[in-house]
Parts: sequence; C-alpha cells; structure tokens
Amino acid sequence: MLRNKDLLGLREMTADEINLILDTAASMKEIIRRDIKKVPTLRGKSMVTLFYEPSTRTRTSFELAGKYLSADTTSIAVATSSVAKGESLIDTGRTIEAMGTDVIVIRHSAAGAPHLLARNVKSRVVNAGDGMHEHPTQGLLDMFTMREKKGDLANLKVAIIGDIMHSRVARSNIWGLIKFGAEIRIAGPSTLIPAEVEKMGVRVFNSVEEAVKGVDVINVLRVQKERQKKGLLPSMDEYARLYGLNKKRVALAKPDALIMHPGPMNRGIEIDAETYGMSQSVIDEQVTNGVAVRMAILYLLMGGRSNEAVN
Ligand code: CP
Repeated sequence: MLRNKDLLGLREMTADEINLILDTAASMKEIIRRDIKKVPTLRGKSMVTLFYEPSTRTRTSFELAGKYLSADTTSIAVATSSVAKGESLIDTGRTIEAMGTDVIVIRHSAAGAPHLLARNVKSRVVNAGDGMHEHPTQGLLDMFTMREKKGDLANLKVAIIGDIMHSRVARSNIWGLIKFGAEIRIAGPSTLIPAEVEKMGVRVFNSVEEAVKGVDVINVLRVQKERQKKGLLPSMDEYARLYGLNKKRVALAKPDALIMHPGPMNRGIEIDAETYGMSQSVIDEQVTNGVAVRMAILYLLMGGRSNEAVN
C-alpha cells in the first residue's frame, strides 16, 4: 500500500512502495497488450490532467491509463482555461476538486507546485513534472524498463548523460535507483552538472567515454533548450560532438547495455538516429511502459490495495 495520499516524488518513497508500483505495472502491461484494452477497475472514479507545460507522452499516457481502467478522464487546456484570467493554482485545484475529481495530475514549471496543490485539496495529486525538481512517473517507468530487461535493479551500473542540472528526470532516476543499490554515473558539460551532486550518491565523470565504460544502462537526457541560461551550453554542434550518444560510445558499454531516452529527442544532438535504432534501444518501449506504470499509479491511488489480479 502507498503510504501517502499523493505521489509527488521518488525521494520520499520507500523501495517497497516503488516495488509495489512496478509489480502492479507488470499486471497492467498485460492489459495493454490485449485486443480489448479495458477493465472496469476504476469505473466511477475520475481523473483530471492539469498541464501548465507542454507534454505528449506523460499527459496522453495518463489519459489512456485512466481510460483503460474505465475511469472518467478529462484534460484542462491551461491556455484556454480560467488560468488565463488569472485564477491561482490553488483556486484552480479547488475548482477541479469541487467537481468530484479523485486524482489531479499536474505538470508545472515551478518546483513544488504539485506539493502546494496537494496540501490544499483532498483529491489525490500526482506530480507529472515540476520544474527542475522531479518527474517521478518518468523515473518509475525508467526503473520498470530496466527491471524488466535486466531482472534486478541492485548492482546495475547506470550512466545518465547530458544536462543533469535542468533535468527532473535525472533527479527522479537518481533518487529511485539509489534506493535499490544501483551505481549511478553522470557525465555532461561541467556547466550543467549541479554543484555537490555527489551528495546524492552519484559518481561524476569528465567524459561520456569514461562514464559509459562497462555500464548496463545508458540513459540520455534531452537538452532542455527552454531552460538554458546563456553561456551554460556549448553550441549544439559542439554538444553533439562531445556529449552526443553514438555507436562508438555505446560500444564502450556492456554489449547488451540498454539505450534509454525519456523523450522528446533532439535527434542529432544528444543521440543520433543510428543509435536510436540500435537493437538494444528501448526508447519506444519506455513509452509503452509509461502507460502501464501510470495505470498502476492510478489503480493504487484510487483504491487498489495490493498487486491483486486486475480483470
Ligand atoms: N518524457 C516526457 O515527460 O515527455 P513529455 O514531455 O512528452 O510528457
């Protein structure tokens, strides 16, 4: 059982809670492989997605996850909602809650916005990405993918490459994987490596080549052009040359090392097309697993108490 009303970050979750979600997601993945992807499990429950930042994968997969479990789902288009008239986050959340919503899934550019909302509504709140802080459901789907392919998260060597500073995906991966005893290596431009990041329990490497040597997983981050300040990033050509993932760099990892990317990709910058297409690339499967993991989260938050069969 999940201890908290809300799912806000992997930092505060226990390994048991994470395992519960990943085990439940394995059952959910079986449902999305069916011809008829629909079970009545969450009939009568409701979910609203409230995204203040763009999204394709996270918002769509939450909506499909809810629909596959028979919950009623709706999506607020923030730009054309009363947010545009100046309505505050708390008032927006209370309005959604007053309509009988069981779960609000929120993405916001401000770190801590989901936590503020969670303190002010009785509805359950799921963090779908808050600023540079956490993206817990991405972290969980990444861990699900690693566990599914590698069998166990303990002792995995995982290299996270790129713009660590602005990456909520990196933070959620680190907070989650560390709890299972994985070794986390990071590499990227020194301007995009946060100060004292070693205190999170990771090892910092000066080059991608050193970081990926002998690893089980290479997780490449998107260059977040929208969050960059001037001078932090070399030119895109230089970034691709020094930090972009290509076949030559992949060859330094274990032969069966997974290639992962949370999406959306800047092809030719952090990863080239050839590497995306390699047999060990699980980038498309991460998207599929995102639906299964979000089904598990909705199920567990809206009444599911254990990894019981979902019919
Ligand atoms: N990985 C991820 O969060 O993608 P979206 O921005 O498309 O949701």
